[in-house]
Amino acid sequence: MKIGIIGGTGFYEIEGKEIEVETNYGNIIVFHFVKHDRDIFFIPRHGKKHIPAHMVNYHANIEAMKRIGIDVIFAISTVGSMKKEIKPFSLFIPSDFIDFTKRKTTFFDEEAIHIDMSEPFCPVARKILLNKAKIYGKAYEGIYAATEGPRLETKAEINMLRNFAHVVGMTLVPEVILAREAGICYSSLCIVSNYAAGLQKFSIEEIKKINEEMKPIVFKIIEECIKDVSEKRECKCRYAPHEGKI
Ligand code: HPA
Repeated sequence: MKIGIIGGTGFYEIEGKEIEVETNYGNIIVFHFVKHDRDIFFIPRHGKKHIPAHMVNYHANIEAMKRIGIDVIFAISTVGSMKKEIKPFSLFIPSDFIDFTKRKTTFFDEEAIHIDMSEPFCPVARKILLNKAKIYGKAYEGIYAATEGPRLETKAEINMLRNFAHVVGMTLVPEVILAREAGICYSSLCIVSNYAAGLQKFSIEEIKKINEEMKPIVFKIIEECIKDVSEKRECKCRYAPHEGKI
């Protein structure tokens, strides 16, 4: 079982051997280390210098994971809450998403592959993440609304989105879709860094500060997940691309 970690804002480098992976979308720097006898491969989603969410090379990141032979990805990101009860400093594990981005969300331009998205996240990896997150913090599950960015949302947009989703963020899509197309199990751990626009005044400085403060907890949760994930894949995620074929 090879485990991939995709780090979000504030997660730019990690101790490990730096390797460069060639992909059809450009070369990607990956950090390799061993933890609890497991091979771990870490990709900082935003590169070393924080590429903004709408410019991230999601296709290259996921293709690099595929080429390495990653079985399961634990992805870390930051979100704004649209629900009063989901307070900043809590953790959120999406179970579903709605895509409001304008991004290219597929690897398949030549073949007609209609990937099943009725369960976008790996049910096994997601459960492990949720159970571990509940030990170390206030953790919720629910729906993630993906926005294009880089601007934050308007109050009217949040007023609409909060009827359909719990949190809002800019990085889940297309990452989760591409991982599914690649047949890789994918789950996401989100740090709730603010209430979304109109629900509370906030600054980017505050978001960065909360992210920094949550980092040790996030590392602890991911480390526990690495320990818990079983050697054999117990789900059907790897068959998704094949089942989507016309
Ligand atoms: N909106 C979109 N993305 C975000 C937010 C937000 O309020 N907070 C952290 N990422």
